[in-house]
Amino acid sequence: MSTVSRRGFLKTSGTSVAAGAAATIGAATIGGVAVAPDAQAATFEQKTLARAKTLKMNVPVTFTYPDASSPCTLVKLGQAALGGVGPDGDIVAYSSLCTHMGCPVAYDPERKVFKCPCHYSTFDAEMAGQMVCGQATEDLPRIVLSYDDKDDSVQAVAVDGLIYGRQANVL
Ligand code: FES
Repeated sequence: MSTVSRRGFLKTSGTSVAAGAAATIGAATIGGVAVAPDAQAATFEQKTLARAKTLKMNVPVTFTYPDASSPCTLVKLGQAALGGVGPDGDIVAYSSLCTHMGCPVAYDPERKVFKCPCHYSTFDAEMAGQMVCGQATEDLPRIVLSYDDKDDSVQAVAVDGLIYGRQANVL
């Protein structure tokens, strides 16, 4: 099985991967290709966010990471997604700040995307925050998660992408 970086995978696969992705998308495999954690993801102190069994499908949960001034959103998508964790590989999290000009994005449960109300950029929650359309030119920063099956906990461990308005993800 070959391994590619997240960015490399998205660059070479485009949006057609959604149709070709098998049910094994899970935490690290999509369409038979292992997706390695992005080498550019910045690791921070681990923060426990929730117990997986307490999350309701398509109901977003807000938190802050890696510090109190960085709003983020956690969501259980209901089907395995790129970078997803948990028993079903469907729990993902992103910065809530649009990469265009920093407006807070909102989760759309019908399309499983994050939408920005300011200039209508849209980011795909199932595809690691990939920008779908709009004014933004960067994907939504992904909060890298881990899952501990011993206590069913979901933790934030890193940020993949630059949070809007920062020169580094640490203030
Ligand atoms: S701030 Fe989100 S599209 Fe402009």
